[in-house]
Amino acid sequence: LVGVKDNLFEGLRVMKHLLQERFVYLRECLTHFTTTGSVLPSSQWAAHALTNPLRRTARPQRILEVGAGTGAVTTKILKDMIDGDEFTICELNRRFMRTLREKLALNQDFQRHKAHVTFVEGPVQELPEDEPYDVIICAIPFNNLSLAVVEEIFAKLGRLSGKDTHLSFFEYVGIREINKVVSLKERRQRFEAIDMFIKNLAHQCLVSEETVWLNFTPIKIYTFQLRRAA
Ligand SMILES: C[S@@+](CC[C@H](N)C(=O)[O-])C[C@H]1O[C@@H](n2cnc3c(N)ncnc32)[C@H](O)[C@@H]1O
Repeated sequence: LVGVKDNLFEGLRVMKHLLQERFVYLRECLTHFTTTGSVLPSSQWAAHALTNPLRRTARPQRILEVGAGTGAVTTKILKDMIDGDEFTICELNRRFMRTLREKLALNQDFQRHKAHVTFVEGPVQELPEDEPYDVIICAIPFNNLSLAVVEEIFAKLGRLSGKDTHLSFFEYVGIREINKVVSLKERRQRFEAIDMFIKNLAHQCLVSEETVWLNFTPIKIYTFQLRRAA
């Protein structure tokens, strides 16, 4: 009977955290839609596909996650981390960062690797550029931003890269195409400019493209190879 009670309490505790997390996500989506970009966190299938670049080598890597939110992808990265990896978690939003830290305090993979995890609260544009990353997993909703900011962030990601850095990021399937048709002129022009910018970059850097249908809104994940300019 004691075992059943313990399992029940554990189940309720997990459920409470999940509900709190969903609530924070929805509230931040409503109050900061431009930077949050979605109503729900990424699914486990999206998290798996976004972290594919981590698994291309067995040697230790420097990993950067940009826009961790409530940690849907962070927990997958922590699960896959190997000895010697160093992991930086960058998140702009103070409430997301607080929720994430609370969640990770209960996470066994985090407990195992926490000496090698660094939290940075603030925009990726302000990250120090002293040591390059091997893998960057970025969830910034680029289609919500101005072209100037998108260019600024990609330039920054370039400066955070080494000789062979893999960057994964995503966009909602069809979002640019839909907006190019139904949006007002100014918004449409912004979408077209971002479309052009990402296509040009893809021309030089695309490694792979994958669609994940099992997500609240299906997403297309791009993997780019970035090289820090000499
Ligand atoms: C679409 S949510 C993704 C959250 C989470 N990675 C997931 O997949 O569920 C985008 C996240 O990027 C963060 N973000 C937006 N702009 C950022 C920036 N310039 N620097 C760091 N984080 C940023 C937002 O606060 C938000 O948590």
